[in-house]
Amino acid sequence: MRYDKIIFEISNENQIGHDLYTDTNNLSKLPKNLRRSSRVELPEVSEPMVVRHYTNLSNKNFGVDTGFYPLGSCTMKYNPKINEEMASLAPFATSHPLAPESANQGSLELMYETDLLLREITGTDYFSLAPFAGAHGELLGLWIIKEYHRSRKDFKRTKIIIPDSAHGTNPASAAVAGFDILEVKSNEDGTVNVEDLKTLLSPEIAGIMLTNPNTLGIFEKDILTISKLIHDCGGLLYYDGANLNALLGQGKPAHMGFDIVHLNVHKTLSAPHGGGGPGAGPVGVVKELVDYLPSPIVRKNKNKYEFYNPKKSVGRIGRFYGNFQVIAKTNAYVKTLGKENLSKVGGLAVLNANYIRKSLENEYKVAIDSVCMHEVVFDGLVDKSTGIKTLDVAKRLLDYGVHPPTIYFPLIVSEAMMVEPTETESKETLDNFINVMKQISAEAKENPQILKEAPHDTLVRRLDEVLAARNPILKFDDIKED
Ligand SMILES: Cc1ncc(COP(=O)(O)O)c(C=O)c1O
Repeated sequence: MRYDKIIFEISNENQIGHDLYTDTNNLSKLPKNLRRSSRVELPEVSEPMVVRHYTNLSNKNFGVDTGFYPLGSCTMKYNPKINEEMASLAPFATSHPLAPESANQGSLELMYETDLLLREITGTDYFSLAPFAGAHGELLGLWIIKEYHRSRKDFKRTKIIIPDSAHGTNPASAAVAGFDILEVKSNEDGTVNVEDLKTLLSPEIAGIMLTNPNTLGIFEKDILTISKLIHDCGGLLYYDGANLNALLGQGKPAHMGFDIVHLNVHKTLSAPHGGGGPGAGPVGVVKELVDYLPSPIVRKNKNKYEFYNPKKSVGRIGRFYGNFQVIAKTNAYVKTLGKENLSKVGGLAVLNANYIRKSLENEYKVAIDSVCMHEVVFDGLVDKSTGIKTLDVAKRLLDYGVHPPTIYFPLIVSEAMMVEPTETESKETLDNFINVMKQISAEAKENPQILKEAPHDTLVRRLDEVLAARNPILKFDDIKED
């Protein structure tokens, strides 16, 4: 296997990049048992070598700042750099979570203000900014559902309904929260099958988890019927906000009947994410559920901001007050766009996805043949005779410098390829993607081998994914040169 040298391998004894200051006078004050007895193993490299090493590594990275990244369900939109500037303002970057409230008034104000902005976006009545990711928000939402029924002594409500198209974190979170899962089927048009839903309703239903638009990029047109059915049966509605980008400026989850909403602010509201973080999954609730929010949440008391513990709180969901700097980026994004521009986001995201859908429908099979929302799901190539799979198309895209879309999700589309262009991409970028996809479809007929062996121009070629999953090499020492 080819790999770049790690920094320890380029280390040379006594090469100095940074002189660590050692206060030898005070060293004796340190208790003996806390003192190091052997040299710390650090690489010895000069400053230019460190700079080159990490710059070269970063150049191998792919991100929204280097190219088109249509990773469906992930909303990889451009992240305005002003977000970073605002989040790293000294008073925010240096404030300490254990400092007294009086010393952190600016940070508390920012949290309170962000809560108000998110309420406005979702139509809910109060937010907890504590969860660190969407899935973490799901867990919190499910705890709230559980505590709500428990406090009403309605202990038999142990079941959560989840559509067969749902993101894997939904059933996983429900299971972690101790619920049993009932799967509701989708119609041919990708939406929840209301007749099937009716057969699942009973006094044991605690609630339903839905994302709207759903993971097929289709708006749940029966959402008002669904929310009435669930409420009439005594359950609550949880909104997985991963797809809220399509609705920005168009509609609010609480107006559709949702009681609990999480936002993936690292998707919808731009705070950058990738490689698993950093993110935040604030959870908003309608007024009937405010008392169950985790402790502490921020409130305004006269002209001061303070933390308080809601009366029936589910407890703490994480350390301190959430991913504060991600929340600061969220705040900066919403405020720099302002209400008018934020209202345009959903419409533009939907327009871009439909432009791609129409432009590629002759080459790639559209999974649900109707107007989509912010993302479009294809079901592989139209011409199945070539034997080319979605995986081959995704790998070939890498040779053209395009990040592949999400593949093989949602699970109910066998050759799924989920393209989410987001509102921030220009027509030129979309046209380039469309041309590359057409070129790949032509290659599938003329030279399928080139696709089966792709990628050709990347640092690592096609990986044995089964082997990688079953026998991952996680330690540097286990890497063997071929
Ligand atoms: C539909 C949907 N729900 C939930 C999640 C989980 O969000 P997170 O990755 O922030 O935990 C995702 C993530 O991609 C998603 O696409």
